[in-house]
Amino acid sequence: MNSITGKTRVCGIIGDPIEHTMSPAMHNAAFEALGLDYVYLPFHVRREELACAINGMRALNIVGLNVTIPHKVDVIPLLDKLDAMAERVKAVNTVVNENGVLTGYNTDAPGFLQALRSRSIEPEGKKIVVLGAGGAAKGVSFILAEAGADLAILNRTLSRAEELASQIAPYYQNKVKAMTLSEENLKQALDGANVLVNNTSVGMVPEVDQTPVPARLLKSGMTVFDIVYNPLETRLLGEAKAAGACTIDGLDMLVWQGVLAFEKFTGRKAPFEIMKEAATKALANEK
Ligand code: ATR
Repeated sequence: MNSITGKTRVCGIIGDPIEHTMSPAMHNAAFEALGLDYVYLPFHVRREELACAINGMRALNIVGLNVTIPHKVDVIPLLDKLDAMAERVKAVNTVVNENGVLTGYNTDAPGFLQALRSRSIEPEGKKIVVLGAGGAAKGVSFILAEAGADLAILNRTLSRAEELASQIAPYYQNKVKAMTLSEENLKQALDGANVLVNNTSVGMVPEVDQTPVPARLLKSGMTVFDIVYNPLETRLLGEAKAAGACTIDGLDMLVWQGVLAFEKFTGRKAPFEIMKEAATKALANEK
């Protein structure tokens, strides 16, 4: 850790719970690698203390905060400005403080896109199958629509998929289809699609033996992205690999959202590999 001085700039993350966050490991490793006089701390902030915490960010001149569960939506009215994607997705995971003016960004959704593009997958003109319709699926669906993909959104509860599709429609011309998550619909949606993204919690610890997609539907030539990172290799990703598909795990998305936040906090290009290594180690230490 860099030595802390009177000039050290403070960043951090607010959430409840917060003790399992990998963000301090990622950002502090990056500050150290670049020789920046910054420090990144975890702050356990309960719902009822959120407004005080955000005002405290101004009072203490904290330069940047990441925002995690359960504050990503509730933080919005406490900020001065929002970037376009945060406004559309109605979720903020990064707040930057410029002389007391707080701007909210969403780097989760662009982080997902960067993770795809880092594997040379360009969504424009592609049909992509999105599983889930919660907060995570929302960011992923909006950024994919913005990048020019047509979407099939499949969710256990059809009405939530329909609601998400109708939220996207006013902003983008892309085709967005909402369907119930079933094997028959998956088969139909996957016909002509070569990217599948899981945004459901199916397969996450402790239910690691679950998968949202039967293995028989997974083929080589597909890219399967699971935003779950606990475990790093979900049953879905294991079966996708076995079928010869290209796989991307949730840690990649986590690191890319951190990279984009880091660049907003510091104005410097983030060291992706160093941040990924630090996040991987922090995840292993959780076990
Ligand atoms: P987040 O904001 O992290 O996306 P969420 O809003 O709770 O979390 O969404 C979780 C997603 O996982 C939802 O799409 C949920 O489906 P429903 O909308 O039908 O609840 C999906 N999900 C959770 N458990 C599931 C299960 N056992 N089978 C299928 N989908 C599941």
